[in-house]
Amino acid sequence: MFSEPLTIADLKRRAKWRVPKMFYDYADSGAWTQSTYKANEADFAKVHLRQRVLVDMSDRSLASTMVGQDVSMPVALAPTGLCGMQHADGEILAAQAAEDAGVPFTLSTMSVCSIEDVAENTSKPFWFQLYVMKDRGFVESLIGRAKAAGCSALVLTLDLQILGQRHKDIVNGLSTPPKFTPKHVWQVGTRPFWALEMLQTKRRSFRNIVGHAPASSDLSSLAVWTAEQFDTRLSWSDVEWIRERWDGKLILKGVLDVEDAEMAAKTSADAIIVSNHGGRQLDGALSSIAMLPKIVDAVGNDVEVHMDGGIRSGQDVLKARALGARGTYIGRPYLYGLGAMGKKGVTRALDILRKELDVTMALCGKRDIEEIDRSILAKVDF
Ligand SMILES: Cc1cc2nc3c(=O)[nH]c(=O)nc-3n(C[C@H](O)[C@H](O)[C@H](O)COP(=O)(O)O)c2cc1C
Repeated sequence: MFSEPLTIADLKRRAKWRVPKMFYDYADSGAWTQSTYKANEADFAKVHLRQRVLVDMSDRSLASTMVGQDVSMPVALAPTGLCGMQHADGEILAAQAAEDAGVPFTLSTMSVCSIEDVAENTSKPFWFQLYVMKDRGFVESLIGRAKAAGCSALVLTLDLQILGQRHKDIVNGLSTPPKFTPKHVWQVGTRPFWALEMLQTKRRSFRNIVGHAPASSDLSSLAVWTAEQFDTRLSWSDVEWIRERWDGKLILKGVLDVEDAEMAAKTSADAIIVSNHGGRQLDGALSSIAMLPKIVDAVGNDVEVHMDGGIRSGQDVLKARALGARGTYIGRPYLYGLGAMGKKGVTRALDILRKELDVTMALCGKRDIEEIDRSILAKVDF
C-alpha cells in the first residue's frame, strides 16, 4: 500500500495510518493557530545554499560532538512526552535506534517507559529531560534516578511551566491510557496493529511518575496533571538549584529570546537549545531557525548553542549548523518513524536525514561537518 519511505513526509503518512487519531494528532499539532509550528518548518525554506562544483567530495565526515560527547552526526532525538503511545514501548525502541545510529536519545519526564525501563534495555548512556514540579522532593528523586541510570546529560526544559493549548487534544479527549468511550474505542479499534502491540506491553501509563510521585487527581490527563504539578514560579535561581544536584552536562531547552540567551549563558549550563517547543507553547513566537543566528551572535562564544523545531530533512540540519547550531534535535520526524514502523522507522528517519545531510554537504563543496559555517549560505537578491 505504501512505497518505500524516502522522506520524513512518507513516514508521517504511514504513521497517520497506523497510530490512533488522538496520539497522531498529539504529535502533529501546535498551539492555538499553529502559526509558530508552521513557521518552524516554512522558514527553513527561506535559507538557501551555495552550489559549488569541481571540489573534492571524497572521504566525507558528519562526525561531531554535542556537549563534548561524540555523535555520528549532529542530530539528537528530542524529548517527547507520550512517545510510548506512538508505538508500544516507544521510548525503548527509539533509544535503541538512536544508540545504533550513534546519536543521543533524550527521554522526557512525561514518557511512558520509565528511566529504568530505558536503562535496562540500552547499553549506552542516554539523556534525561527534566520538568520542574512544585514538589522539589520529587524533582530531586527524578535527578537521582537519572544519575543512577547513568544518564550523561540533563536537559532542563524552560518553556513549559504552563501548557500551551492544542485544540486537537481537547477535541480528541487525549488521555493515557485511552479512555473506554465509544469514540476512543473506535479510534483504537481502527488501528489494529497498534492495538495488538499495545496489548503485549505492560507499559501504558506515565511510568516516571506513577508509583513515584504523590497521587494526583487525574494523571491520565496531561493537561490536568501539568496544571496541578508544574512549578509556575520556576526562575533562573532554580537552574543553580538543579546544578547543585547534577554534576553531569546540563542543557537548557527552550530559549528563544536574545535576552534570555544572555541570562542562560551566565548560568553554569553547558549548552542551550534554541527552541519554541516545536510550536506547541507560545503561538506567534518566531521560528527557531529565525532566532538561531541572533542568539548565536549574542552568546555563541560563551555557551554551546543547539536548536530544534521544524527540521524535516538533512538540508535543514545543514542550514542550522551553518547558522551556528553545534547540535540539532528532531521531535516529530522520529515520532512519525516510530508510529509508522517502530524501531525500524526511527532508524529509517535517521538514515534519511543522514543521507540528505551527507549529499547536501558534498554538493555545497564541503567534506567535513566541522567546516560548515555561514559561508555555505546564499543570499537571494532578484
Ligand atoms: C508530541 C511531542 C511531545 C513533546 N514532549 C516534550 C516533552 O515532554 N518535553 C520537552 O522538553 N519537549 C517536548 N516536546 C518538544 C520537543 O522536545 C522539541 O522541542 C520539538 O518536537 C522540536 O520540533 P520538531 O517536532 O519540529 O522537531 C514535544 C514535542 C512533541 C511533538
